[in-house]
Amino acid sequence: MAGPLPRYLLPDNAEIVDGRLHVGGCDVGELADEYGTPLFVYDEQHLRARCREAVAAFPDGVAYATKAFLCRAMARLAFDEGMSLDVATGGELAVALAAGVSADRLVFHGNDKSEKELAEALDAGVGRIVVDSFDEMDRIERLVASGLPAPDVLVRITPGVEAHTHEFVRTGQDDTKFGFTVSAGLADEAVRRAAKSPAMRLRGVHAHIGSQVFRLDSFVEAARIVARMAAPYRPEELSLGGGLGVPYVEGETAPSITEWAEALLGACREEGVEARVTAEPGRAITAAAAVTVYRVGVIKEIPGIRTYVAVDGGMSDNPRPVLYGSGYETFRPTTTDAPRPRRVRVVGKHCESGDVLVPDAWVPDDLAVGDLLATPVTGAYGHSMGSNYNKVLRPPVLFCRDGDARVVVRRETYEDLLRLDVG
Ligand code: LLP
Repeated sequence: MAGPLPRYLLPDNAEIVDGRLHVGGCDVGELADEYGTPLFVYDEQHLRARCREAVAAFPDGVAYATKAFLCRAMARLAFDEGMSLDVATGGELAVALAAGVSADRLVFHGNDKSEKELAEALDAGVGRIVVDSFDEMDRIERLVASGLPAPDVLVRITPGVEAHTHEFVRTGQDDTKFGFTVSAGLADEAVRRAAKSPAMRLRGVHAHIGSQVFRLDSFVEAARIVARMAAPYRPEELSLGGGLGVPYVEGETAPSITEWAEALLGACREEGVEARVTAEPGRAITAAAAVTVYRVGVIKEIPGIRTYVAVDGGMSDNPRPVLYGSGYETFRPTTTDAPRPRRVRVVGKHCESGDVLVPDAWVPDDLAVGDLLATPVTGAYGHSMGSNYNKVLRPPVLFCRDGDARVVVRRETYEDLLRLDVG
């Protein structure tokens, strides 16, 4: 038995009017009727508020990690609110540039940037390249020798800190594909090489220990190691990555962006850091801003075993439960504050048993076929990790604000599915 959905899992500008959920002043049930389901509904002012909080909390600069959720409207919004943008592939770079973000406000990441991607980044004049390997340095040197401008770089180091999170999203430990390992001496070697290379201007070092991390002590420990490692080189900038966790289900709590920043900046102060200290949150900016709205298509009760509730999306719009065993709440957005006494398994419409959205979901007793069912906190790594599996059409994205809903990504069509198919 679960009570009504906890309010703090909903976007900032959510209101419940006669049981019906409104986001950014728009009735979610009406949006579902108008735009169809599944549907990503974002509270635009929530996104803006988190960007502003980050900008205020990191006075030396902060980038939005676009992998969490990217489309042109999101890139523009983060940029307009004063954030830089972290891009991790040529594709993310292209979308950010297409949105009109100034190249000098882009930070280019990636453990295997291709020569083509690097050439695009140098050509555009990105503000920072975060160099991840010696092979990448070779590529940058070749490109600069061929006439492209030398970039400003940060060297990504691996501090040897175990973040308390799912192993798939841990990146700070020594055994990782990312960055230059401090304990193995690779970080020093990389910094020395970058400092000497005429093909790059070394601005500082970068570290990112993982994602969906709740404990500030892991961040503080990593910040101290980064500060100490970099000190002899007198860096201009220390970028401490992203990774701040958010609550997804009842009972979870996480530090705010402001608390996280205070911990990071405090650790750097104590270490006597004079460099600019920057960061790049993704999830903490976008996750709680959105809800995904589905429609229930099938309810199958297997007596004595369990009840399955199938909705019209699934692992193609949210692969996180399958990939990481991530938990979500569910609720009916037309009776948002109704008790949820009935335990069911919410599954998608894909052709495999692993296509589970919520293994043990609590829903209203009278949930029926045709009802809407929503999952909150789906604004990060849902749309961005979505797929066309089973040729399911990717859902649209709405930004809602002051009672107006605008489509920022439209629903896919069958024509879209065939657009690349030239056979
Ligand atoms: N900076 C770097 C270098 C990163 O690799 C990441 C995330 C971030 C910043 C932003 O981290 P955030 O603040 O969003 O935690 N798909 C996974 C998360 C993968 C994160 C990858 N890197 C998930 O759905 O939980």
